[in-house]
Amino acid sequence: PPAPPNVMIIFGAGGDLTKRKLIPSLYHLWAAGLLPESFVMLGLDRLDHDDDSFRSRISEHLHQTYGTAFNLDAWRQLEERIHYMKLDMLEGSEYERLCENLSRIDAERGTEGNYLFYLAIPPSMFRPVTDHLGEVGLLHETEDDWRRVIIEKPFGRDLESAIALNADLHRNMDEEQIYRIDHYLGKETVQNIMVFRFANSFIEPLWNRNHIDHVQITVAESVGVEHRGAYYEEAGALRDMMPNHLLVLLGFLAMEPPNSFDAKAIRDEVNKVLDAVEPLTPEQVLTHAVRGQYSAGTMPDGEQVKAFRTSAGVQPNSSTETFAAVKLTMDNWRWAGVPFYLRTGKRLTAQYTEVAIHFKKAPTIMFQDTEVNELEGDMLVLRIQPNEGIQMSFGAKVPGPTMKIGTVNMDFCYEDYFGNKPATGYETLIYDCMKGDATLFKHADTVEKGWEIVQSVIDVWAALPPREFPNYAAGTWGPAAAGDMIKRDGRQWRRIE
Ligand code: BG6
Repeated sequence: PPAPPNVMIIFGAGGDLTKRKLIPSLYHLWAAGLLPESFVMLGLDRLDHDDDSFRSRISEHLHQTYGTAFNLDAWRQLEERIHYMKLDMLEGSEYERLCENLSRIDAERGTEGNYLFYLAIPPSMFRPVTDHLGEVGLLHETEDDWRRVIIEKPFGRDLESAIALNADLHRNMDEEQIYRIDHYLGKETVQNIMVFRFANSFIEPLWNRNHIDHVQITVAESVGVEHRGAYYEEAGALRDMMPNHLLVLLGFLAMEPPNSFDAKAIRDEVNKVLDAVEPLTPEQVLTHAVRGQYSAGTMPDGEQVKAFRTSAGVQPNSSTETFAAVKLTMDNWRWAGVPFYLRTGKRLTAQYTEVAIHFKKAPTIMFQDTEVNELEGDMLVLRIQPNEGIQMSFGAKVPGPTMKIGTVNMDFCYEDYFGNKPATGYETLIYDCMKGDATLFKHADTVEKGWEIVQSVIDVWAALPPREFPNYAAGTWGPAAAGDMIKRDGRQWRRIE
């Protein structure tokens, strides 16, 4: 069913996120009949635009993206619901005009005073913008209407600043009005972790320390820092990815079955997992965490890539990491003694996000004299992106007169079953927010717990500047030390083809 009537107000409508993700998501939602007739998108930014020039800028982008598959009828209907307003977001006196504009839209379009404010702006603007919205009463809900605010990461840059940011937001809103987006929660394959675990009976009995040896979570990117050198120089790989996206994966993988699909039930289980993760002591950071930075190199497609330190916005002697790997353990009944190895980095060999569950070896007494061509043992791989799917690797008899065992793969690909539906990952999140369903959004406590887990790594790395940067060539799988970390435990990173 379509979402209730509402106005979605985008702060930062002139930016990349609006063009690349938000508008395409609205277009997909409209085409799927999930937006209400009484819907308006109001874009706000400093750029000089009127409705027409703003619309044509967007439609040009959509034309380019979809080519002949562009559903022009759907776009025409959505387009007439898109408006633009030039606004200096940091100027409090401008917000009266915004109020007037919204009241007019309500009267003309029947949007009933329901407002979704989407803050696609730098974090330093979160507080002034929400303060100004609060001052003019736009965050005040009544029994007849709702006011919600979506904010994008980064939610602070460490535990302390995350707590301060949450306190700032709470000055003008209740927690229930705040929808913190982590776009990993919008990915079908991430949501499917819960379905795979809890809607099937065969997997859950194995999902614990009795059967699982260890888990590897890899978010490898082949891209560099693109146009975000200045942001990335401040953030680095750990802050950019670990307390948020990688811990989303860890949370869904490790959680206990929630009592329902209710937002609170799921959040409570994820929070329990995060509480059970043992924070690294400063000594452990030295052995359980590895950082890297890429130098110039050649990507597999032959592209010559320059070193991170030469990127725009990055210091020539930067000590920012573009790769981070961490070994985490959990102090709870299900996972005691099972290491979770997490790694992420830029300019690695391939673009690849996956979870590999390595099962314990079977007692192979029966096959002790058998030639075993076993590469990695029994393993389940959840391919988050690209080539979304699930792969089970196990041993099989190699046909022939002698007994030989080789590893084979059973493979499920989303595309084979469900086709290739274009989606940005934001559709579900925007639709859920309009319906008031916060299941796939982060609450303040989850964000803060994420930072707690990585805080000791942040502190130790800040106190001990890296001596050997850069320490991996672009186009490789990261620094050798990451391999050493897992080898010390008698294991190895899964080789991704
Ligand atoms: C963002 C990070 O949150 O996630 C980027 O800031 C990163 O640095 C991106 O590239 C990865 O997202 P995805 O969906 O491509 O895995």
